[in-house]
Amino acid sequence: MSLFQLDHKKIVITGATGVLGETIALHLAKEGAQVIIIGRTASKVEKLVDQIRSKGGNADGYLADVTSEEQVKNTAKQIKNHFGTVDILINMAGGNMSDAVVQPHQTLADLSTEAMRKVMELNYQGTLIPSKVFLELMLPKGQGNIINISSMAASRPMTRVAGYASAKAAIDNLTKWLAVELCQKHGEFFRVNALAPGFFLTEQNRSLLTENDGSLTQRGNQIITHTPMRRFGEPEDLLGAVQWLCSDASKFVSGTIIPVDGGFSAYSGV
Ligand SMILES: NC(=O)c1ccc[n+]([C@@H]2O[C@H](COP(=O)([O-])OP(=O)(O)OC[C@H]3O[C@@H](n4cnc5c(N)ncnc54)[C@H](OP(=O)(O)O)[C@@H]3O)[C@@H](O)[C@H]2O)c1
Repeated sequence: MSLFQLDHKKIVITGATGVLGETIALHLAKEGAQVIIIGRTASKVEKLVDQIRSKGGNADGYLADVTSEEQVKNTAKQIKNHFGTVDILINMAGGNMSDAVVQPHQTLADLSTEAMRKVMELNYQGTLIPSKVFLELMLPKGQGNIINISSMAASRPMTRVAGYASAKAAIDNLTKWLAVELCQKHGEFFRVNALAPGFFLTEQNRSLLTENDGSLTQRGNQIITHTPMRRFGEPEDLLGAVQWLCSDASKFVSGTIIPVDGGFSAYSGV
C-alpha cells in the first residue's frame, strides 16, 4: 500500500470551484478520494461535480457561504446525513479584496475599515467556521486532518495588500493554535497544517502581476526576480504537498506552514 494513498478518504474542500481548488479537487478524486465540494455558486459547483464524475471520480456538491456559521452548519448537517463522518477539511475559500488594498497613490488614511473587516471575515472567519463545524464530523472517527491556506504575504507583509496579509497572518497563527488545541483535547490523530502558495497567476491577481498584453507589471517583475525558480506557480505545483498533507505520509506533521513557492520565502533578494 502506498504511503500517500487517499482511497475512500472523505475530503471536504471549501472554495473548490476556484482556480487552485478545482485542480486540487480533480486530483484528489483521481487518487480515489470521495470529494465533498462546498461552493457558493451553484452553477460552478454542479459543473465541477459533473467534471469529476465524468472522469470516474466520486464527488458531491453543497452550497454555503463560509463566513456564515448558520449556512456552514446546515451544509454540514446534510453532509453528516449522507456521509456520517469526514476525514479531511481543506479550507481553500479565501482571497484578496480590491478595497482592502492601499494603492501607490493612496495612504493609510484611504484604507477602508469596512473592506478590512470583510477580507478578514472571508479569510479568517471563513477558515475558523468550517474548522469548528467539520471537526464535529471528525470526532466520531477519533481522527481528523485540517489543511488551511496561507500566503507569502503572511509572514513578511507585502506592500499594498494590507487586509489580505493580516488575514493570512492570522491564519498562520490559527493553524498552530488549532494544531495544539485539537491534539491536546482530542488526541494524537488530529492534525492541522497550512500550505503557503507562492505566486500563481489567477483572476485574483492577474491585473496586479501582468499587463493586458501578458507582459509583467513592475510588481510581477519584482516577484519573478525574487523567486529563485524564476516563474509563477502552476496550480499543479500544489498537488504533491496537498497529497502528502492529506495522506498518512505526514501523520507526525502538525502545526506547520509549508511554502510551495519556488524558493521565494527563502530568498533575501541578495
Ligand atoms: N492564487 C494565488 O496566487 C494564491 C496565492 C496564495 C494563496 N492563495 C489562496 O488560495 C486560495 C484559493 O485561491 P484561488 O487563487 O484559487 O482563488 P479563486 O480562484 O478566486 O477561488 C476562490 C474560491 O473561494 C470561493 N469563495 C469566495 N468567497 C467565498 C465565500 N464567502 N464562501 C464560500 N466560498 C467562497 C470562490 O467561490 P465563487 O467562485 O463562487 O466566488 C472560489 O471557489 C485562497 O485562500 C487564496 O487566498 C492564492
